[in-house]
Amino acid sequence: MENKVTKIGVLTSGGDAPGMNAAIRAVVRTGIYNGMEVFGIMRGYSGMIENDIVPMHSRSVANIIQRGGTILKTARCKEFFEHEGRKKAYDNLKKLGINGLVIIGGDGSFRGAHKLSEEFDIPCIGLPGTIDKDIAGTDFTIGFDTAVNTAVEAIDKIRDTADAHDRLFIIEVMGRDAGYIALHSGIATGAENILIPERKTDIEELVNGLLEKSRRKKLVNIIVVAEGDRGGEDVAKIIKERVPTADTRVCVLGHIQRGGAPSCMDRLIASRMGYSAVESLIEGRHNVMIGIVNNKMHYTPLEKAVKAKQKISDDWLKIVKILAS
Ligand code: ADP
Ligand code: F6P
Repeated sequence: MENKVTKIGVLTSGGDAPGMNAAIRAVVRTGIYNGMEVFGIMRGYSGMIENDIVPMHSRSVANIIQRGGTILKTARCKEFFEHEGRKKAYDNLKKLGINGLVIIGGDGSFRGAHKLSEEFDIPCIGLPGTIDKDIAGTDFTIGFDTAVNTAVEAIDKIRDTADAHDRLFIIEVMGRDAGYIALHSGIATGAENILIPERKTDIEELVNGLLEKSRRKKLVNIIVVAEGDRGGEDVAKIIKERVPTADTRVCVLGHIQRGGAPSCMDRLIASRMGYSAVESLIEGRHNVMIGIVNNKMHYTPLEKAVKAKQKISDDWLKIVKILAS
């Protein structure tokens, strides 16, 4: 097998996710192990355009596996949407001799990488880094496990108050277009209802269920709603009008779900994926996202990783209904 890729760049782009640092560490150290020069590109595509690119060494990634956020920082970059911006970025890579890229980010970042590689023929490997888990071709995304565990811890605490006061809590969790954080954290905390954007919420069914619970004096209720479905305040407005007996409160968990030390699971998948990204460049793979499916590395063309979303199985929703009665 030939090894054409000698200098690689690694960047984090889009929303940060816990475990990104573990992935950077794995890319840097696997690259160095294989005799490559490795560069860190600061602030996602912005650093690529502004030539904010720094050499990375084994010690540059010391003591970061346990840290949330990203040492390379991350950004959303408007200029990269335009060919002009991507050309500037590519020229900077070329000047440094960078001939392979590892992009840690979400589907937007992969869309950008796909365009860059099509226009300038530079191999790009994507690692799914997003708390939302809304990317096809992988069972896990870096950051999801930590985020969902943060949500579980918070919801458990809120349930104490709900129970003490006989209250109904509506808890809004993150997930721009995806309900995975809501679904996993909701099932794990015994939520009575889970509202996700993948399924249209039947408001009548929700209200009737709460009225029925109120009749049998079940007053403690937790409703977990994904921000992509509708805002927690919107749900509260409906419930306050239609179920006035419920003592309703709203809690938006927000960005606490994005930060914090990555879980063991996120450190592990980030390490495996980072290692595999460099191996893939060595093997001559172009423009794939590295995923893990059934505990094996799985390669999805970048353009497919961006288009398809994961599907939420009907079984999961049935479980919610049966267990939260
Ligand atoms: P994420 O990667 O978390 O989904 P975004 O959707 O915000 O985050 O995308 C991150 C960055 O990727 C954008 O700010 C932009 O620089 C780049 N990007 C996203 N979509 C495209 C696109 N269609 N063409 C070029 N670049 C894109
Ligand atoms: O994609 C991750 C995510 O945290 C979404 O769940 C959320 O909608 C979005 O990013 C918020 O992004 P930001 O706070 O960076 O604008």
